[in-house]
Amino acid sequence: MAEHPLLQNDVKAGIARAPACTLVIFGAGGDLTKRLLMPALYNLSSGGLLSKDLKIIGVDHNANDDAGWRKDLTDTMQSFTKDKSAEFHADHIDAASWGFIAERLHFFQGDFEKDESYKALAEKIEGNAIFYCAVAARFFGPVVDGLGKAGLLKQTDDAFRRVVIEKPFGSDLASAKALNARILKQADENQFYRIDHFLGKETVQSIMAIRFANGIFEPLWRREYVDHVQITAAETVGVEMRGSFYEPTGALRDMVPNHMFQLLCMVAMEPPNSFDAEAVRTEKAKLAEAVKPIQPDHAVRGQYTAGREQGRDVPAYRDEPNVATDSNTETYVALKLEIDNWRWAGVPFYVRTGKRMAGRLTEIAIHFKPAPYRLFRDTPTDAVAPNVMRIQIDPDAGETTEINVKAPGPQMRLGRVETSFFYKDFFDEKPNVGYETLLYDCMTGDATLFQRADNIEAGWAAVEPLLDAWRSAPVEPYAAGSAGPKAADDLLARDGRKWLPLPVEA
Ligand code: BG6
Repeated sequence: MAEHPLLQNDVKAGIARAPACTLVIFGAGGDLTKRLLMPALYNLSSGGLLSKDLKIIGVDHNANDDAGWRKDLTDTMQSFTKDKSAEFHADHIDAASWGFIAERLHFFQGDFEKDESYKALAEKIEGNAIFYCAVAARFFGPVVDGLGKAGLLKQTDDAFRRVVIEKPFGSDLASAKALNARILKQADENQFYRIDHFLGKETVQSIMAIRFANGIFEPLWRREYVDHVQITAAETVGVEMRGSFYEPTGALRDMVPNHMFQLLCMVAMEPPNSFDAEAVRTEKAKLAEAVKPIQPDHAVRGQYTAGREQGRDVPAYRDEPNVATDSNTETYVALKLEIDNWRWAGVPFYVRTGKRMAGRLTEIAIHFKPAPYRLFRDTPTDAVAPNVMRIQIDPDAGETTEINVKAPGPQMRLGRVETSFFYKDFFDEKPNVGYETLLYDCMTGDATLFQRADNIEAGWAAVEPLLDAWRSAPVEPYAAGSAGPKAADDLLARDGRKWLPLPVEA
């Protein structure tokens, strides 16, 4: 696989700058723009990867002007130097790198739902343009309609026109299909870049390298050798200030058809014919379509009650702001997925994700079938534990495989050890919020890490039976700071398996 430019230790070495374009950000005053897009642009600027002819137009319905917007964003960037818990943290903001961005910022006030806004915007745009929908999901359709009607999505041989759409893309299969149909009336599929920020994570992209650039793994990556796979995205944070978004959403919609399915597709898809965007996305779509619709008896929904998290008392979900005191929204999901294809038939993929869990961990663990015990039967060895390969995504990016060796001493006893690699030990990691690669790829027209319409719809189709069944199903309580509800352990115990323990954060 050709190394992605942003994976290299020295991104300045021989890497092409992105082509000139106007980046129009709808939602200029929003959280995403401040917390993630600006730091990502700053990091790209530091890497010398942006065109000198880049122009950034921020659109928002609230009043502001060029100087005001520049000041707001400059202040926010400076505030990151004092906030170690922010997604982006740097000891100082390099004046030249941020100056490069700041001097290109222009503010445009406009109502996302009025045609006049787009007509006026059209006067300011020529040549290549990317329209980034960093707005609430209800505006995705109106923004794309407005752009289309104003002729802003017409491409020519000399000028591309692309639209980036954030999540959530729909809230069920019907609404995702309707949104796809609506936007595809205004432009072609290849102009839409549906973002899933999990694909901006370094180790997620590295799954393709691990699988397809090493001769030793892929032959084992199949039903004959794999017992099961566990995919975990456990967070210690609660819902906190996001109650109004989270109440109608819940953990299933928030995490599964998008982020968890992206991890699943990366780890389980067939090798593509090439790393061409369409070849990769076709394999991902085929995999997602092979997932059997998930039935309620293969699913557990939980909700956190009050508990202790990292040494402090934390409230129950029902006591969070903007959450109903009798809320039935799930903050935890555990699922057993079955993939109906030649490679994976009979291999369960267990998926769990939740908030306020014992520790932060995003990883994919491949549990291989054990070696035959026969050879060790006359030794003091009790059993031959299976190998587990863990592809670690957060908080530490790397890979760890548990293997058995002979423990030192006169007898044949097995000892369990780990071979591991962590990115920070091998690569000079640049500060990265995960959007750098995605923005750069959109500017250069590489859609590999973006979701095609069929991929999104396949994710929703798989969870659709649960959306119906869970309208009335109760949630299982679990204490904040625990590993999730007991029913999730039972889901695996029924198959004679156990979840890997979560790290416990004191
Ligand atoms: C977002 C969800 O898409 O992903 C959040 O809306 C979740 O609820 C977040 O916390 C997790 O992303 P990350 O990168 O922090 O693992």
